[in-house]
Amino acid sequence: MASYAKFARFYDAINGEPEERILQILTYIEMYRPQTESILELGCGTGAILAGLGSGFSLTGIDLSPEMLEYAKRRCPSARFIQGDITSFSSSEMFDVVICVFDTLNHVTTFEGWLSVFQLVREHLAVGGLFIFDVNTLGRLRELGEVAPWVHSFEENTLIMDVEFDDEPMAIWDIRIFEHRGQHEYVLHHERILELGVALDRIRDALSPNFNLLEETDTYGCAPTDESARALFVYQLTTE
Ligand SMILES: C[S@@+](CC[C@H](N)C(=O)[O-])C[C@H]1O[C@@H](n2cnc3c(N)ncnc32)[C@H](O)[C@@H]1O
Repeated sequence: MASYAKFARFYDAINGEPEERILQILTYIEMYRPQTESILELGCGTGAILAGLGSGFSLTGIDLSPEMLEYAKRRCPSARFIQGDITSFSSSEMFDVVICVFDTLNHVTTFEGWLSVFQLVREHLAVGGLFIFDVNTLGRLRELGEVAPWVHSFEENTLIMDVEFDDEPMAIWDIRIFEHRGQHEYVLHHERILELGVALDRIRDALSPNFNLLEETDTYGCAPTDESARALFVYQLTTE
């Protein structure tokens, strides 16, 4: 069974509304590509970001998980959705902006896969278009591997999320959701999701031949490092 098949039902309740991420994306679009008409989201999940970007754009989302896409179609009926792999997708459309957020890129578990994503972004972006993405850093994944599991109650259910981090450097997110079904009855939904950590300089080096770096920030608005909690990049395509 593919990742997110079981998690999809609970994803929005656990993660809440991504208002800050949406605002940040809209701010960068307004700053660097105000004429934007079309946006593609790679790994759009339940469509929370696309729905929040508003009706002023032509919106497309790609995701591997049919379960996540079912929620996305309901949340954002005006968008076009494609079930596919972000390392090998193809669309006849060109986009003003491509986004890939909430550590979706880390879900691609080889660096060759990341390079394929970067190449496809290049092929699907208009010249001057923006590539906005974030990653969980190596430091963040290592830290998650060291801390106690996250236990979180939502609705009447309980989530236990435990991250193992090995030397590959791959993080394994072990996700257990105990769904409350009756007074003393719980049903366990279990998934393991892999995330690859990549040094930020490898990302910068891979993109620098064709993209211009406009912004890079950690969650506090400072320059990101491999120890930051998260790194967000805004790149502009300079060559076809
Ligand atoms: C952490 S979720 C992020 C969803 C959404 N971007 C958000 O901000 O809420 C990661 C998503 O990426 C999708 N995904 C992971 N690997 C993928 C791949 N190779 N191709 C397409 N989608 C993928 C998963 O199915 C999941 O929906």
